[in-house]
Amino acid sequence: MMKKNLILLLTFCSILSAQKLDGKKVFETYCWGCHHQSAVAFGPPFTEIASKRSFDEIKAYVIEPKAMYKSFGYKRSVMTQLHLNDDELDAIAHYILSYKGK
Ligand code: HEC
Repeated sequence: MMKKNLILLLTFCSILSAQKLDGKKVFETYCWGCHHQSAVAFGPPFTEIASKRSFDEIKAYVIEPKAMYKSFGYKRSVMTQLHLNDDELDAIAHYILSYKGK
C-alpha cells in the first residue's frame, strides 16, 4: 500500500514538472527574432541584460517597454509590446538571468 502511494506521488510530480513552463520556449516564441543569448541582435543579448537587471526589472520591461525605456537609459524604444501571462513572464525572466556571468 505504501509503495503504491509513493509511485502515485512520483508520477504526479513528474507530470507537474513536465508542465512547468520552459523559459527557452518563451524565448523562441516571442524574443528570438530580436534578442539572442550572447550575441547582439536587434536588441541587447541576454548576457548583457542579466548582468545589469533584476528579475522584476526584466518583467517590467517586457510588460511595457514604453513605460520603462527612459529609466533604462534608452532615448527611444522600438521593442514591441508583447502580451505574456504571469507564468511566461516568470519563465523568461529566470531564463534571461540564467545567462548572468556567461
Ligand atoms: C521587435 C523586436 C523585439 C522583440 C520581439 C523583443 N525585444 Fe526586447 N528589446 C528590443 C530592443 C530593440 C531593445 C532595446 C530598447 C528598446 O528599443 O526598447 C529591447 C530591450 C529589451 C530589454 C531591456 C534591455 C536592457 O537594457 O536591460 C529587455 C529586458 C528585453 N528587451 C526583453 C525582451 C524579452 C524577454 C522578449 C521576448 C519575450 C523581447 N525582449 C522581445 C527588441 C525586441
